[in-house]
Amino acid sequence: MPDEPLVLGIETSCDETGIGIVRGTTLLADEVASSVAEHARFGGVVPEVASRAHLEAMLPTLDRACRSARVTLADIDAIAVTAGPGLAGALLVGTSAAQALAWAAEAPLYPVNHLAAHVAVDRLEHGPLPEPAVALLVSGGHTSLLLVGDIAEHVEPLGSTLDDAAGEAFDKVARLLGLGFPGGPEIDRIALDGNPTSVAFPRGLTAAKDRQHHRFDFSFSGLKTSVARWVEARRAAGDQVDVAAVAASFQEAVVDVLTAKAIDACQDLGVSDLMIGGGVAANSRLRALAADRCQRAGVRLRIPRPGLCTDNGAMVAALGSALVSAGIAPVGLGIEVDSSAPVDRVLLG
Ligand code: KG4
Ligand code: ZN
Repeated sequence: MPDEPLVLGIETSCDETGIGIVRGTTLLADEVASSVAEHARFGGVVPEVASRAHLEAMLPTLDRACRSARVTLADIDAIAVTAGPGLAGALLVGTSAAQALAWAAEAPLYPVNHLAAHVAVDRLEHGPLPEPAVALLVSGGHTSLLLVGDIAEHVEPLGSTLDDAAGEAFDKVARLLGLGFPGGPEIDRIALDGNPTSVAFPRGLTAAKDRQHHRFDFSFSGLKTSVARWVEARRAAGDQVDVAAVAASFQEAVVDVLTAKAIDACQDLGVSDLMIGGGVAANSRLRALAADRCQRAGVRLRIPRPGLCTDNGAMVAALGSALVSAGIAPVGLGIEVDSSAPVDRVLLG
């Protein structure tokens, strides 16, 4: 619809420079420039390298997005930018660019929460989220179960990880198995050749005693340690480590807990829609097991396509568009970044 807002989204919280353009819930452009190759040899994202890469990629990526959406800056009705959580220096590049563009285009500015944007992106694929919905947010830095009303205003944490995020566990286990960075896609790929029942790795916080206090919380550091011990013991004994079998068994332990707790939350709260977002939602086994278990439980499942699960600008534009449509007032140009913004604050500033 032509009267829906045309929103530009800017994402720079980690190592992807993302620029997205949406009209309402229609995706018009989604351009991502990644600096992941520059971090690979360090086995993790180097903040200074990421900031510099954002600076270099910002204008070319913006240019590509405008061209592919066939719009100019003057057409933009609102600008949304990730203001947290994330790497402070990297966030600053995005918010500075957004401030300059908002001033130049005389467009209202919405500094938004990266985590809520991982949920809002599904609007672009499956339309507005039913209210309420349960969202399972699984990224490199966060793992949370959320009760989501109107995504513009209401995100309520039900539980979260007590230690490592799911993506972080994938990255650490990949590293100890000698796989590349980021580890999630590597484990996903190699696990296809392994038997997921080879090793019975622990399922964190699923014991009966954890039900009372940690029913919707997660813990992955014990699993990571368990994988490390298992591999060390084999190596010390001079045995060959079947990397595919370990990867598949580890991945199964993660996705088993994620899907079981997400569906338990839906059933406990009487909510019939589950949304899964964040980089780990690109995982093929998580997608398959969630689809299977949701169908059995009578829960409707929404997961954006893998390219919209990992960091991108479209998700920020999608959240910005939800804020504009909900009539939420923008903040002024003087915005600040919040590198540890809590998940329940959708609009930052
Ligand atoms: O959401 P995201 O792109 O960035 C953050 O907000 O953190 O998530 C990145 C995380 C990384 O830990 C990466 O290994 C993981 O998502 N990831 C995956 C897959 N693709 C990305 N984990 C498992 N399987 C995948 N296919
Ligand atoms: Zn993310």
